[in-house]
Amino acid sequence: MCGIVGYIGKHDAVPVLLDGLRRLEYRGYDSAGVAILADGKISVRKKSGRIANLTDLIAQSPVAGHVGIAHTRWATHGGVTDANAHPHSDQSGRLFLCHNGVIENYATIKEQLISEGHTFKSQTDTEVLAHLIGKEYDALASAPGTARLVKSLRSALTQVVGTYGIILMHADAPGVIVGARRGSPLVLGLGSGENFFASDVSAIVAHTREAVYLKDFDIAVLGANDFEITSLLGGASGYEVSKVEFSADDVSKGSYAHYMLKEIHEQPETIRDAMRGRLVREEATAKLGGLGMTPQQLREVDRIILTGCGTASHAAMCGEYIIEALAHVPVEVEFASEFRYRNLPLPKDTLVFCISQSGETADTLAALREGKRKGLRVLGICNNVASTIARESDGGVYMHAGPEIGVAATKSFTSQVTIMALLGLMLGRIRHLSTTEGLRILDELEALPGKVARILAQSDHIRAVAEKYAHAKAMMFLGRQFNYPAALEGALKMKEISYIHASGYPSAELKHGVIALITPEVPSVFIAPEDSVFEKNVSNIEEVKARKGPIIAVGTEGCDRIAKVADDVLWIPECPDYLSPILASIPLQLLAYYTAVHLGCDVDKPRNLAKSVTVE
Ligand code: AGP
Ligand code: GLU
Repeated sequence: MCGIVGYIGKHDAVPVLLDGLRRLEYRGYDSAGVAILADGKISVRKKSGRIANLTDLIAQSPVAGHVGIAHTRWATHGGVTDANAHPHSDQSGRLFLCHNGVIENYATIKEQLISEGHTFKSQTDTEVLAHLIGKEYDALASAPGTARLVKSLRSALTQVVGTYGIILMHADAPGVIVGARRGSPLVLGLGSGENFFASDVSAIVAHTREAVYLKDFDIAVLGANDFEITSLLGGASGYEVSKVEFSADDVSKGSYAHYMLKEIHEQPETIRDAMRGRLVREEATAKLGGLGMTPQQLREVDRIILTGCGTASHAAMCGEYIIEALAHVPVEVEFASEFRYRNLPLPKDTLVFCISQSGETADTLAALREGKRKGLRVLGICNNVASTIARESDGGVYMHAGPEIGVAATKSFTSQVTIMALLGLMLGRIRHLSTTEGLRILDELEALPGKVARILAQSDHIRAVAEKYAHAKAMMFLGRQFNYPAALEGALKMKEISYIHASGYPSAELKHGVIALITPEVPSVFIAPEDSVFEKNVSNIEEVKARKGPIIAVGTEGCDRIAKVADDVLWIPECPDYLSPILASIPLQLLAYYTAVHLGCDVDKPRNLAKSVTVE
């Protein structure tokens, strides 16, 4: 995925575009560029590396105008070079385009264009799309201008296979920027005497809170004071103007060194927000109205599929343990990228949940569409309101966690697992859980935010432990039952921001080969709260200690046993086993964070990653 920003209006475009790119940099940061249309000419400035490199380039070689497009790239086709940075032009050099997505049949189109005399400056699929549109534009006999540009865009888009969120401009049409989307997000921002395009509203929320989220096949023509949306499939395209829920402050780091640290510390509040208005004490249950299902319909559910990618798949795995424990409904977790290609035998009363913070992950979106193709009810658990997954699902549950800017998922994970617990409670109370049991679960849920705050208060201790092991060659993360997925999530956090090779396993799996990797340089992180499998975890810890492997444990406050067997302990308050993954993940987020900071890694923008992977 990448970041796209467009501006047309009364102000100079460059500051608006650069500010927008900075707010989108978490979406991809291989290179960045801007194109500005002024006096019938388009000037481009683009540079590989971070947006700061582009800012420096523009400072040395200024460019100004009131119409412009900008892009920060996460490369899919072609290396990280200045030439491959967007925006890209057509053969004439009068049309420029920024693109998020993948043009799957670009090679065939490129071959045809080369045979017609086109020459290319980059290795990207995007440049091919720009040339194709330019070729269609130059072939039209109609008067140069907006109508001709839109007509050529339509003609070109019917020839491409793949995904796109694009914005483009032409020197012949100085009064507009044109945008189109299929499979990659694109939103309009509506200002006064100015309008915006962006991949994500966080880029423009400082300028407007009025947004129009484009749908697949929409084509939008944006002027400074007006806009028009039609569909590539023909005719006008209905749209609604949404109010952006969050403010510019919500997407700022505040006093924190990194977005990730801010978002870790937001978790007492975001877990509270995930439950807000959904705990019904008088019925000793949870209510999730967004599912759009009656108790009778929920009672009919005889199987649940939870699907997602990365951290979302780990939340799904927590959900499997939690929902089966509380509601006795069979749950299966599928990696979204696998689900979409497997031909799973699915009973008609299967309920599918797609979990996705961004609501734009390509594989998860494809899994949603596969579930709907099979005639199943597919529900979304998303953070990004009006995202594609949220809009295409049959209903769902919003996380209400606020924008998550750090590439490493933190608050979205604990919100997702909290929602799993709400689902388990609700389904359990429909089936077999008594009022007393329901009230006890409600009490435990309501106590969660305070317990998370207690863990966060230990940050200095966790930082000291992180720095002690920061130069480890590798790390193992182990847990049993509800905490096996938490171990996987802890390993992913460590991997993706500190670049230390970390693996997660069920604790008992150590003996089946993994323990061969244990040395004094390879610490093992055991999630070993005082639960039903505590003694088994202690046995596994002893097996590692016998081979001189250092032990970091996540243990229950006041547990002397764990203090005796582990070299270092990260303490969590007592809680029922089905909620322990939420608490256990907090110290592991901080362990990864402080390790990465100590190693001088770029915590908010780790190498090779992007916040939401909107390509397959
Ligand atoms: C997790 O820290 C990563 N950022 C990544 O695994 C992420 O969870 C995954 O790409 C899914 O993203 P989504 O929740 O936006 O769909
Ligand atoms: N496929 C395009 C490229 O590799 C766009 C990638 C992106 O979405 O940033 O340049």
